[in-house]
Amino acid sequence: MGKYYTMRDFADMQDCSIHESAEAFQKYIHQFDEEKSYPYGFMSQTGVDKDMEITDYYSNEANKVVSFVSSNYLGLSQHQKVKDAVIESVQKYGTGTCAAPPIGGYTDLHRELEKKLAKVHGQEDAILFTSGYAANIGVFEGLFNKSDLVLVDMFVHASIYDGLKKTNSKIFKHNDMDYLEVTLKREQGKHRNLAIVVDGVFSQDGDIADLPNICKLAAQYGAKVFVDDAHGLGVMGQTGRGTADYFNEHDGVEIVTGTLSKALGSSGGYAAGSKKVIEYLRLYARSNTFSASIAPPAVAAASKAIDLFEEEPELIGRLWDNTAYIKDRLTQMGYSIGLSESPIVPLMVNDDKKAIFLARKLFERGVYVVPATYPAVKLKNSRLRVNVSALHTKMDLDYFCDTLAAVDREFDLRISVK
Ligand SMILES: Cc1ncc(COP(=O)(O)O)c(C=O)c1O
Repeated sequence: MGKYYTMRDFADMQDCSIHESAEAFQKYIHQFDEEKSYPYGFMSQTGVDKDMEITDYYSNEANKVVSFVSSNYLGLSQHQKVKDAVIESVQKYGTGTCAAPPIGGYTDLHRELEKKLAKVHGQEDAILFTSGYAANIGVFEGLFNKSDLVLVDMFVHASIYDGLKKTNSKIFKHNDMDYLEVTLKREQGKHRNLAIVVDGVFSQDGDIADLPNICKLAAQYGAKVFVDDAHGLGVMGQTGRGTADYFNEHDGVEIVTGTLSKALGSSGGYAAGSKKVIEYLRLYARSNTFSASIAPPAVAAASKAIDLFEEEPELIGRLWDNTAYIKDRLTQMGYSIGLSESPIVPLMVNDDKKAIFLARKLFERGVYVVPATYPAVKLKNSRLRVNVSALHTKMDLDYFCDTLAAVDREFDLRISVK
């Protein structure tokens, strides 16, 4: 048995040229050949839905699977009313804008979506970006520099870390209010801006930011709160208006960033905040200013999807019913799902190799779920990230649980503690 490589082994190889690094990385890919378990080679022949057909990276054959990979929480990317809105938008606006927003790529369709997003988050205005990633880069690079201090929850999304590279930041232990208070007290008044950045719903663990206490501390020590609510929109709160709405903390949040690519079933990103800060970002968030705007069909899809939060509230109800059902079953079966408080269910494996092997065996039995390993989480916290959707039936959820138990038993993986 040779060395088992992880993705950490090939990041930033100091003495290797581009081609040497790429060549060395082949060792990572090919170590999975024997068990046919390379986890990143999947290609779908269908839309991303709860039932999918995936081409097997090794055999090249199509495999019918029940999918738990996508953050399409309400199934809106497949909703007929959303598809109709997209077709209508193509007839009117065509397929792309082919221009950045300040120089011609901004339509009334874009504006309408911005207004809806601002309203949903209880903010004055909003600005669109081509992705949630670009939104975080644009907002944090655009607003902060070395005169500022940004306190960041250690589990925020990678795009926030990337957006903060040019400022001073301090990482605090996940949801640790004591540390946050001590640091705020110490740093208060010493910086041009003092800010706190969290995810509303954390993307790998599925737990929620302690916004009531974060906002209270921020008000006490003069800090501004930024929330990435990529996984909160459409999920949290009675009508899916996000994590700040769930806690009734709109007033304590300076800016909400987010994505159109999860519950809204589309693609693109946004930031919502006060009118003047949004106006500032229109020219100082470089990922917006220097990038062609979101294509009209994607804008139309997200815009219709927001309407459906109110038109079809039963979708959110079904999402939470399904979430409760699978969590109950997994817990009763002795599996650890960490601290999840949302439809993101981390099935803890705590071993990189085992998580990848398990995902493969499930795939071979018609269950598509991705392993979350380094760099998304620490290697010792590797898990399967099970994303629940309103579209799943009880039969799908049972199939997942029963197949998991069968694979766990057959290969003696001992993931369940029962
Ligand atoms: C918390 C969080 N923020 C931002 C993003 C990036 O969103 P997008 O896929 O639209 O770039 C993601 C996507 O995974 C996310 O989970």
